[in-house]
Amino acid sequence: MNPTKETSLFSGFSAFEGLLPDFARTGLFSAAGQKYTREQSGRLDTEYRPSAVVLSRREETAETITLKLLPGERYPDFVPGQHIDVAVEIAGVRHVRQYSLTGIPGAGALEITVKRQKGGLVSNHLLDHAESGTRLEISVPRGEFLLRDQPTAAYCFFSAGSGITPVYAMARAVLQSGTKADVWFFHAAKSKDAVIFRHSLERLAFEYKNFKPYFFLKESDTNDTTHRSVRLNYAAAESMLPSDMNPHTTQIFVCGSGAFVQDLEGGFTAAGFSGLQSEYYTLPETAAGEGAARFLRSRATVKAGTNLLEAAEAAGIQAKHGCRRGICHECKAHKRSGTVKNILTGKETSGREDIQLCITQPVGVVEIDL
Ligand code: FES
Repeated sequence: MNPTKETSLFSGFSAFEGLLPDFARTGLFSAAGQKYTREQSGRLDTEYRPSAVVLSRREETAETITLKLLPGERYPDFVPGQHIDVAVEIAGVRHVRQYSLTGIPGAGALEITVKRQKGGLVSNHLLDHAESGTRLEISVPRGEFLLRDQPTAAYCFFSAGSGITPVYAMARAVLQSGTKADVWFFHAAKSKDAVIFRHSLERLAFEYKNFKPYFFLKESDTNDTTHRSVRLNYAAAESMLPSDMNPHTTQIFVCGSGAFVQDLEGGFTAAGFSGLQSEYYTLPETAAGEGAARFLRSRATVKAGTNLLEAAEAAGIQAKHGCRRGICHECKAHKRSGTVKNILTGKETSGREDIQLCITQPVGVVEIDL
């Protein structure tokens, strides 16, 4: 497959110019945009505290709603794939969760899509209480799970459950850019009715002949050619994708549980595909390690078999955190010494450095400024 020239998605000097025509006015280079950049580097911005008012709510499935939010002035635009933090107070305690932005950039209003999670404090609170007029504290858009500015012959999006939210926003943006590249979209869900954005995806498939959505469902529907009743994994993807896909001009995005992401990441990486990005909705299983952590300011030393956030909590330390899956950077802490392994990438690093506690496992003894 030969690279296809994009017509508008990434034209000009800025990677986002074609996609976000208003970005130059409101985005990366404005005061708010600079604040956004500082937030990306992990520094909390105390003077800019954005909030948004719920304009409306829309049911996507029996367990999922989309909230349309109107942010305040100076709020920067976003790039599909990014998320925001949403803070709510429940019984006097502030809770923060991350939600992908599922609306269209430049539209003024934002959209987040929330699926009810079993035991999920914030998702249940939003489904039960968020209504027109509710004010929510939010962050500026963040995240690096983004489309790349490079010649692309094909896009492949893989998601499971609520992992569909960022990849849906990206796939729609790619299609609306007018690309001629094939856009494959593979999504795993319990049933047809549980597929979030199903009607919108079907409309996109009707509108764009290069869009190829497939739903991998636990229940079978023999009347619909887009449905597969097999497990969505690398083997299933490989059997459906063209065998001559160019591994260097294909952008692949994966979002779902740890095991789901690891299987696809492993398969595509072994097959030589270089343009793969992933976002974990849950951390992958990690073999218990033998490491230990010394939390210097708290004067506590504990065994840290899994990750350093859990180790800190086991030591009774209230470590700052948000997503617990490597996305929000809220758990960033400084390591003074020792070697650690990044649970998502497997990469080991040593010496003084900032680390994300939730995705870091110690190798031996490490010293943390906490
Ligand atoms: S808690 Fe979000 S990155 Fe660690």
